[in-house]
Amino acid sequence: MTEAQAPGDVVDLADFARLAQQRLEPGVWDFIAGAAGDERTLAANRAAFDRLHLVPRVLTGSARPAAETRVLGRTWAAPLGIAPTAYHTLVNPDGEVATAAAAGSAGLPFVVSTFAGRSFEDIAKAASAPLWLQVYCFRDRSTTRRLIERAVQAGFDALVLTVDAPRLGRRQRDIRNGFRLPIGVSAANIAGTDGRSPSDHALDEFDAGLDWSVVGWLRSISPLPILLKGILHPADARRAVDVGVSGLLVSNHGGRQLDGVPATVDVLPAIAAEVAGAVPVLLDGGVRRGIDILISLALGADAVLVGRPVLHGLAVGNQEGVQQVLDILVDEMLDAMLLCGTATVADAGPQLLLERGLSP
Ligand code: FNR
Repeated sequence: MTEAQAPGDVVDLADFARLAQQRLEPGVWDFIAGAAGDERTLAANRAAFDRLHLVPRVLTGSARPAAETRVLGRTWAAPLGIAPTAYHTLVNPDGEVATAAAAGSAGLPFVVSTFAGRSFEDIAKAASAPLWLQVYCFRDRSTTRRLIERAVQAGFDALVLTVDAPRLGRRQRDIRNGFRLPIGVSAANIAGTDGRSPSDHALDEFDAGLDWSVVGWLRSISPLPILLKGILHPADARRAVDVGVSGLLVSNHGGRQLDGVPATVDVLPAIAAEVAGAVPVLLDGGVRRGIDILISLALGADAVLVGRPVLHGLAVGNQEGVQQVLDILVDEMLDAMLLCGTATVADAGPQLLLERGLSP
């Protein structure tokens, strides 16, 4: 099999990953590709998808599957969005501005990191699809409050509080590389990241002692719906619904926080069952194929987010590269829906999966 040598030859997301690795400094590549500890959870995210099997239904007459889906009152072109990843300017000077433009062309949402390399205002100007702000809560609450006020002002639609990161996980590739932000790359919306190791910065600034009262605090300072990112236990999902969050993101941070936690698709069914449709349940971690999206829907997700592949697309082909990554995933998903006899996103239920038992 010949592999893609240039953006024009790209067929799948693995091609983008290979091309990105060729273009990026090894330390930057490792910061993006790496995860915590032995990277067991990173591997588990992929292995779990590989273990699951779709069982198509035939002669269903659904020639043109529809990918559109509604989440928090907005229509997305597909049940897919961009997960928050820090510093898009590490791979391309246009950074999050190009990513937002690509997400807009694809009609898909973009969750912007607290550590975006471009200003919220510039990102919002380039956007035409929903923008959500990923929030890390700092010990200095006024810094967090200011971030949120600016995002509200810029027209962001929702807050996504990351709850799996009282500090950053032990990412051994970064430790061995002595990774620090290169000159010219820093967080555009908060002070103090220049030339620093992201993990040292987090250790100094993150509020490591958050409890459930943070949800009420966020609600008191902003009118935006609040989602929690990093839920892995059904009891936490229940608590989140009880305190009134507007959505959950089942995530293990792409394996970058606690190594050894399960693959997200493996905990998804229990969480979806606990939430029972009360709020949207999203998932991220290891989604690299359209069939991964369909499998996630079948296991109870309302939509999925992708992290690293977007950075690969941005590194290789700027805005067009990100758009290509999103287009490939949506095309693959539509293809899988057609071949499964699934007409709409709502039809993608557990009956599609061998592992959930075949019911007549
Ligand atoms: C992340 N992730 C992340 N999450 C978050 O809540 N805030 C952040 O700033 C970041 N930054 C970040 C940087 C990089 C380089 C990566 C790879 C990841 C985690 C991210 O939102 C998401 O959970 C995972 O990336 C999803 O897994 P995949 O799609 O990368 O396998």
